[in-house]
Amino acid sequence: MTKENLMVVQTQFLNETLAGLQASPKFMYPKYFYDEKGNYIFQQIMEMDEYYLTNAEMDIFSNQAEQIVTLISEANTPFDLIELGAGDAIKSIYLLKEMIARKLEFSYLPIDISAHVISNLEVKLPLQLPGLDINGLHGDYLDMLDQATTISERRKVVLFMGGNIGNMNPDDAESFLKSMRRLLSKRDLLIIGFDLKKNPKQILSAYNDSKGITASFNLNLLARINRELNGDFEIENFEHYASYDPESGACKSYLISLKDQLVHLGEAETIGFAKNELIYMEISQKYALEDIERLALGSGFQSRNNFFDTNRYFLDAVWSVS
Ligand code: AVI
Repeated sequence: MTKENLMVVQTQFLNETLAGLQASPKFMYPKYFYDEKGNYIFQQIMEMDEYYLTNAEMDIFSNQAEQIVTLISEANTPFDLIELGAGDAIKSIYLLKEMIARKLEFSYLPIDISAHVISNLEVKLPLQLPGLDINGLHGDYLDMLDQATTISERRKVVLFMGGNIGNMNPDDAESFLKSMRRLLSKRDLLIIGFDLKKNPKQILSAYNDSKGITASFNLNLLARINRELNGDFEIENFEHYASYDPESGACKSYLISLKDQLVHLGEAETIGFAKNELIYMEISQKYALEDIERLALGSGFQSRNNFFDTNRYFLDAVWSVS
């Protein structure tokens, strides 16, 4: 990243953090969880027994890659496979392997907010998958998707996995998908992962794990603000709290201020916290099948196929543009 770009990114981080901390109730933008430390902690979350989502989606991709690729290749034309929030591509690699084995003509365009993640993928994936044509992009999902759609005339297959759509509330998810729809054309496909409503206790323990890893994931954002925005959060004065509402499917996480306190950001900004005041950190929305069908229709897509894991915890839906 150039020095100028880095400054733009840091200014946006500061402005958005301040806006969130000056709002009522206070909130933070989950996209800022993922600095190097946050990526490391998220990796640990994905390895936890309680966090069933990763294994469930792995189950889908490791066992049903053939069927998914058959669906993708029905059109029998070259395509760009664009993955939003590619991370370490540990699940999409099953699709990539299958596509390469079938000698399909495609390019892989991973998109991630983190430049570090993208450069890692660009180095490591071609070693694992010789012959892979990879062109990574880092930045905001929709900006990068827009850029990706201008790179070639080929049809697009967009992957949006991991339950990332759940980190938007349902209204924002619909507007996001509508914006995505506007960037796509009739022949394109979207493969999108949803965490399904299930036993509420199981969901809650995925976000309130016994080892406190999710707590440290949330608290790391305060530490990141201290590191990068010259803040002075006293991390031990905040506590993680997770809740799940089985009716709406909203699983939310908060940080609770344990005392009346003042926090400074740089020299100019002071934020007051009352004892028990909360910072809303993140939503991880859970969906019922009918909610997903409604979301597809409402945002301009048509459901083509549903791939479930063995336990039916998670769903990867294949949607075409309608
Ligand atoms: C990235 N995303 C789908 C995760 C989730 O399940 O909402 C983020 C996460 N936050 C806490 N644990 C996992």
